[in-house]
Amino acid sequence: MAPAIEFPEPFLAFLKDNNLSLDEYAFEVLPRYIRVKPQLAASLDMNVVEAELGTPLTKVDWLDGFYRLRGDVNIANSALFKGGSFYGICVSSGVAVHALDVAPDDHVLDLCCAPGMKLCYVADLQGSDGRGTVTGVDLSPDRIAVCKGLLKKYRLERARLFIADGANFDVYAPSKLGKSAAPSLLSSGSANRSHESVIDDAIDVDVDRVSLPTSSQSSTVHCIPSRTEATTGSKTKPFHATRLIRHDPQLKLPSLLYDKVLVDAECTHDGSIVHLLKKAILGWSDIEQNLLSPSRLETLEGLQRGLISNGYRLLKPGGILVYSTCSFAKKQNEDIVAWFLERHPDAQLEPIPGVDKFPLARSLVNDYPEMDLSYAIRFSPVASRTSGLFIARIRKGK
Ligand SMILES: C[S@@+](CC[C@H](N)C(=O)[O-])C[C@H]1O[C@@H](n2cnc3c(N)ncnc32)[C@H](O)[C@@H]1O
Repeated sequence: MAPAIEFPEPFLAFLKDNNLSLDEYAFEVLPRYIRVKPQLAASLDMNVVEAELGTPLTKVDWLDGFYRLRGDVNIANSALFKGGSFYGICVSSGVAVHALDVAPDDHVLDLCCAPGMKLCYVADLQGSDGRGTVTGVDLSPDRIAVCKGLLKKYRLERARLFIADGANFDVYAPSKLGKSAAPSLLSSGSANRSHESVIDDAIDVDVDRVSLPTSSQSSTVHCIPSRTEATTGSKTKPFHATRLIRHDPQLKLPSLLYDKVLVDAECTHDGSIVHLLKKAILGWSDIEQNLLSPSRLETLEGLQRGLISNGYRLLKPGGILVYSTCSFAKKQNEDIVAWFLERHPDAQLEPIPGVDKFPLARSLVNDYPEMDLSYAIRFSPVASRTSGLFIARIRKGK
């Protein structure tokens, strides 16, 4: 079958340099996926959703809460979508979050969080009864603004966002909920807080834009020093934080390392079919300039190593880090994980729960005779009928 997308020369050269085949793109129209907000799963009538979208929905039987539908359906006009009952998110992205095993009391760090589909999934899995929080970090002010919009739309109460370089980010998990009188997250037992709206009262810090990268810089410059983080005294100002966690004193105690860390790393996006289809319509100029230029590719792998290393540094002993990219390139996936495991003998690659049921693509682990990378998985359009995604789950030694 011919590739579903017509690619420009630099993209074809990128595939060749990375030993990738055009066969990765030899698929018919892919389905799209939606995820129902877990808190509404019992009450949302899927027949009503089907009627609104005008197409049948098929439950994905290997990941809770996900449904498959025709790829050409526009969900944006659905009233239930606009009202926050469900999300449009590919099920392969869902697996990256599922691999974190998020529990209600977990503090989760998402180091490349924008536009925020995975971050919202994390927050939904936490629910609002535990003590868990999610901290999102992204270098792009424009994209993080979208993430803030999603948090508000879906009324997610335990999140804060920072515009910062994930390779240098250094804020630990929040140590308390609410103002000083509120229960400390350092103490055990569930938080006894009122359920007044914390969303409407969320803080939106006016970050001094003079010290921030412009949006055009942010798409090209990726390893910038942490001076771009807006700081007040010794505290790093969030771009957005709900009232529940805005008063965090930002202590740096070992007990405040994160329980889970997601590194959904910046990459060449060559497996993100939605992204490529947009480029095919809108033009390839920025993918050529910003993503596939030799200088960009040189710094990208350094950034990915920086992100996974910093994520691991901020992870609690015994905690889980998930590294994922939407690239098919081994250099950005297995090579990064192998490089990382070599330097962290305490870290263990683990199987992702439920993996036996996933429709996976062939793994590329044969180049590592000294190391077993077989638990790292790949989704691909042809094998999985999803967007491409590489996912590795790593447990930190105790
Ligand atoms: C693959 S996208 C993340 C998608 C996101 N996790 C989601 O599920 O919606 C990669 C993100 O990394 C961000 N990024 C690039 N360089 C970064 C850096 N040094 N630190 C933090 N984020 C960075 C980009 O702005 C982009 O939003």
